Amino acid sequence: MTRTLYRILCLVGVTSSALHAQQTREAPLSSRRASQVADSILRLMTLEEKVGQLNQLPGQGTPTGPHAPQGGEALVRTGGVGSFLGIFGADYTRELQQIAVQQSRLKIPLLFGLDVIHGFRTIYPIPLAEAASFDSTRAEFSARQAAIEATAHGITWTFAPMVDIARDPRWGRIMEGAGEDPYLGSVMAAARVRGFQGGDKGVGLGATDAMLATVKHFAAYGGAEGGRDYNTVELTERTLWETFLPPYEAAVEAGVATVMASFNEIGGTPAHENDWLFSDVLRQRWRFKGLVISDWGGIGELINHGVAANRGEAGILGIKAGIDIDMSDNVFADSLAAAVRSGRVPLALVDSAVKRVLRLKFALGLFQDPYRFSDVARERRYTLAPEHVNAALTAAREGIVLLKNADKTLPLRKDLPSVAVIGPLADDAQSVLGNWAAEGRPGEAVTVLAGLRSALGASARISAVRGAPVDTVDTTGFAQARTAAAAAAAVVLVLGERQDMSGEGWNRASIELPGSQRDLALAVIRAARSSTGGASKPIVVVLLNGRPLAIPELAAEAPAIVETWFLGSQHGKAVADVLFGDYNPGGRLPVTFPRATGQIPLYYNHRNTGRPAEANNHYTSKYLDLPWTPLYPFGYGLSYTTFAYSNLRLSSARIAAGDGLTVSVDVRNSGDRAGDEVVQLYIRDSVATVAEPVKSLRGVRRISLRPGETQTVTFRLGADAFSLYDRQMRRVVEPGIFTIFVGTNSDDVTSTRVDVTGSTKVLAPTTPRFR
Ligand code: NOJ
Repeated sequence: MTRTLYRILCLVGVTSSALHAQQTREAPLSSRRASQVADSILRLMTLEEKVGQLNQLPGQGTPTGPHAPQGGEALVRTGGVGSFLGIFGADYTRELQQIAVQQSRLKIPLLFGLDVIHGFRTIYPIPLAEAASFDSTRAEFSARQAAIEATAHGITWTFAPMVDIARDPRWGRIMEGAGEDPYLGSVMAAARVRGFQGGDKGVGLGATDAMLATVKHFAAYGGAEGGRDYNTVELTERTLWETFLPPYEAAVEAGVATVMASFNEIGGTPAHENDWLFSDVLRQRWRFKGLVISDWGGIGELINHGVAANRGEAGILGIKAGIDIDMSDNVFADSLAAAVRSGRVPLALVDSAVKRVLRLKFALGLFQDPYRFSDVARERRYTLAPEHVNAALTAAREGIVLLKNADKTLPLRKDLPSVAVIGPLADDAQSVLGNWAAEGRPGEAVTVLAGLRSALGASARISAVRGAPVDTVDTTGFAQARTAAAAAAAVVLVLGERQDMSGEGWNRASIELPGSQRDLALAVIRAARSSTGGASKPIVVVLLNGRPLAIPELAAEAPAIVETWFLGSQHGKAVADVLFGDYNPGGRLPVTFPRATGQIPLYYNHRNTGRPAEANNHYTSKYLDLPWTPLYPFGYGLSYTTFAYSNLRLSSARIAAGDGLTVSVDVRNSGDRAGDEVVQLYIRDSVATVAEPVKSLRGVRRISLRPGETQTVTFRLGADAFSLYDRQMRRVVEPGIFTIFVGTNSDDVTSTRVDVTGSTKVLAPTTPRFR
């Protein structure tokens, strides 16, 4: 610790051991000690130094790793920058910290942020795939390990989890979230925050293997019209509260340290100037104590939105709305001090923002030891640590969803003499990592082809044929693919999207299989079938994609379909484990799969309408040219075994409004293999003062059962599970009949009813009304 700072800390009564004790006792974001330290430092700061703490600069990639941008190190010396984005490495972060704490006047250490979305160097499944595991413990563990590896590289802050609910799979960033459901989204959001931060409510912060998490993008970024990233979001206040806000709130409850503003506007107010969001909802309603960061350039973009005439105005709107740190835009750096001096921005606003930055630096223990995250030995120890790679494999297996398995095509025999592996993604090592793969390296990833090769060993002949490109129309490779399919004992088609077809800005107008892949698949399936003269030859489609795909023809013609998303470093190994039956798939769809793009938006928790679809009634809500139902519903996924549900029961057939209820069901593995079942509980308020969704998920449990084994699964529902926003936007439980559904997916359920009695119970008097 530097001498000046040591003196400051002593003045406010904090010594090293006291610091530690403080951090173990209190959640760091609300720690009084952190506040006192921040106050004392604040008193010593010039206005320019204060603004410097609110300035985050991006690093630049160089052949030797990321580096501060031109002039960045000089800014560290003058106190003109408080954090970097995209800079990591034990050595270089130490070098920059040294400049900060030895050469700057106040010696305030730096923060280093990065998008550690699903791993740093060891890459775990993309968040959508991890949501498909329906296993929040697994998601928490992946985030925990990602934090261990990333912090060993000097990173103190991740810009994750992204918790934006997405009902439009054209939107490329659907891969980065937990899908369409607010309950699953909330559970996953909280789990990932705990994982990154090393515990609940931020209590893990202060350990050298925990980093600040960021819940993003606040708010409703996933509602982009037409699925075009960054686009306008058009929704009602009700939908905002019911569907989009819950995962952010869950992250705040789990103690997330920072929140990122979203690029979109809602109701004409861009998030970066939306004081309602940051003040009324985030700080007042949810009592958030952490820090708010802009998205990259989001403050300056207020000019494009048409609400600021120039960057200076944009900066004023941003800080007044509650944005503390300006990411990569230099708007605050260029204009905030002048705005304070001219009286247009109260100094107190800047001071509060700076205090929040300092408090987080304190929480991480950086004032105590600025080099604690810059440790070459830890870096070496945790880079691709074997226990992390193993866990990435477990996570990858858990995210796989079996969509179809006609006539028990799967699992495949391991003694197959030959296999044709066909498709443009079979050996694509970059794609298996998925988008937002941080420092993940293709050379360290297992492709599907590599996974199959190592599972089959040298005795099997594997013919690998691309057949077609990923996204351009080209049928010249079909003949070779057909020949390979006809000649082999089994066919594995590896189809879908490259990793750069989802993620930020990577939106698609159509979610069908791109390029000529559908035609390739159909040609190969037919060639394989006709080659056997009637005998069956296993044909399996393995899909890689960052969004739901519309694949009605495959669903009709392919005997087996396995959804593998992008599973990270161990993708191919996990796929081979599933195809050959070493692992029985148990993942479920966290998002509805439509039959065609034209059905979007299609989600399970829709309202009923006055005229719900009926096949033989023209004047009901449906299409002329497509069924109204999805291809695969939310929560769907098969197994190599079967499960039987029985004895659905309630702790009581009647409860008073405001009381809880216990729901139990017996689940038996009725097949002949061990397997995982995802038991799902949905609720419907049958008659309410507002139209409610036909079903809302309120509980999930992933369980493992041996053949013949039965387990009783018990869900304890609190009052909130029965609540809705009434017409005054109060959170209430209304008396009446509720249907409780339990089952294997949102469509395949058994149900019972509970009678909620008494008068309406108000759980929360109102929401902050949008202004
Ligand atoms: C823009 C993205 O929207 C955001 O999610 C990300 O954290 C920043 N860029 C930094 O990479």
